[in-house]
Amino acid sequence: MSSQLRSSEWYSGDDRNAYIHRAWMRRGLPDSAFAGARPHIAIANTASDLTPCNAHLDEVAQSVKNGIYEAGGIPLNLPVVSLGETQVRPTAMLWRNMAAMATEEMLRANPIDGVVLLGGCDKTIPALLMAAASVDLPAVVVPGGPMSTGTFRGEALGCGTDVWRLSEEVRAETLSERDFLRSESSMIRSRGHCNTMGTASTMALVAEALGTVIPGLAGTPAVDSRLLEASHETGRLAVALVEADRRPSTFLTKASFHNAIVALAAIGGSTNAVVHLLAIAGRLGIDLTLDDFDRIGANVPLLVNLQPAGRYLMDDLQRAGGFHAVLREVRDLLDPDALTITGRPLVDYLDDARIWDSDVITPRETPLLPAAGISVLRGSLAPGGALIKPAAASPHLLKHRGQAVVFDSIEDFYARIDDPELDVDADSVLVLRGCGPKGYPGMPEVANMPLPKKLLEQGVRDMVRICDGRMSGTAYGTVVLHVTPEAAAGGPLALVQTGDWISLDVRGRRLDLEVPAEELAARLPNQATLDGFAKPRRGWERLYVDHVMQADTGVDLDFLVGSSGPKVSRESH
Ligand code: FES
Ligand code: MG
Repeated sequence: MSSQLRSSEWYSGDDRNAYIHRAWMRRGLPDSAFAGARPHIAIANTASDLTPCNAHLDEVAQSVKNGIYEAGGIPLNLPVVSLGETQVRPTAMLWRNMAAMATEEMLRANPIDGVVLLGGCDKTIPALLMAAASVDLPAVVVPGGPMSTGTFRGEALGCGTDVWRLSEEVRAETLSERDFLRSESSMIRSRGHCNTMGTASTMALVAEALGTVIPGLAGTPAVDSRLLEASHETGRLAVALVEADRRPSTFLTKASFHNAIVALAAIGGSTNAVVHLLAIAGRLGIDLTLDDFDRIGANVPLLVNLQPAGRYLMDDLQRAGGFHAVLREVRDLLDPDALTITGRPLVDYLDDARIWDSDVITPRETPLLPAAGISVLRGSLAPGGALIKPAAASPHLLKHRGQAVVFDSIEDFYARIDDPELDVDADSVLVLRGCGPKGYPGMPEVANMPLPKKLLEQGVRDMVRICDGRMSGTAYGTVVLHVTPEAAAGGPLALVQTGDWISLDVRGRRLDLEVPAEELAARLPNQATLDGFAKPRRGWERLYVDHVMQADTGVDLDFLVGSSGPKVSRESH
């Protein structure tokens, strides 16, 4: 194998360059590390004190290292760009492609043969998978796992979801400000990522459904010793992956994405998974479209009773049988040929799975919803498509006609939404624009706009909301999101006026602005709308706005689509 190891291109030989590459790396490593027989495995590590959900990944990395050593490899910690969903502004999504690009380049530039990807918080696993797909080196993911369930006043608290719920209660004056603040440290009480079925949990499970995680690992809580055990195993596997030359392009196919979409529906996963999966597929050259999500996912039953769509949290899912118990129920919908990182099909791993608590994971015969997938809407307001997650919506609003109340930016929204004079009622449709990939920039999670205070006080708990932004995976409501094209890219969303009639028909998959085409063609965006769009002058934001694609193709940068492979053509000196 010696001549085949990529790292040997740096380390083998007696010339000055090989000397330089080896000498600085020695630091106690034995000669055998450079003899061309031991794979050098990077651990792409998103541990960071500013990504609290991933802060424990250094400990996970130690277990991965032990496994790599044990299997004869050389483990190398590689800190990569990390994104703390709750910390970075204006939105972590603005940096997902930057993290992916930086990671891709560092994996290619360095003398490594394979990589273990350590992620957790929302954008980290998608960015790592995009990078791995584009550099196409053997790669395996370790999801850092969800945090422990928090409790407050005797009840479980779900990260994210309960923040939205409790803050609405404060606004409706059914919860005191003081009690709201007391819940803060009860909600986040251990290492790990959000424990609801938000984007982090979703992407961990979806990464396993894709085949990029050692089967049975995803969903293991961050505090669970079995996470370290599986991390050790993953380290061993990474060495074997290099020997087998199992790169992303060799086993990820459209069938892998089919399984990811089935899983996404059955778990009631986050709408954010749609843009992430589209972006990952784009890196692999796999023809995945928005409509695939509707076609493949539409009739998949919802089997997982987790917040935000349901009641429980990730600890409960694990106790109730875990992700494989869910997949076993929908086994007939999975593609039997899709392989995992081990070289065996995903469906091979499901035989021993059992449901131990059918209130958390419901059997196929009694699903929480018979059809759970994310619906793709089209129509005169969203010619390129828009999404809605029916599982998180109110059934009575899935077919609705109402008059628009339009906001040009999130600042405009907050300035006016609680104004007692605002002309709005429960049938109104709240429209927020300027929140797409280009407009904000970065497509933030603002689509689940809070309801007007005066309507909350009347007991209104949901309204139809429409936005070109995203929604947190932990949020809920009848929210139409990812409207494409976004207002800042010339979409008709820019032309909606307060008072226009809008009709939503989820079953018919329609979203229409009831304005005659001639009248719409004669309208121009008003100045306030244009003022709401970002106009960055330099730096990453400038690059991003100039090159970002729309939500229907995954919000990647146009020049990052596809793969360049692992080859580096020139020496460094
Ligand atoms: Fe990191 Fe929710 S904030 S997963
Ligand atoms: Mg989130």
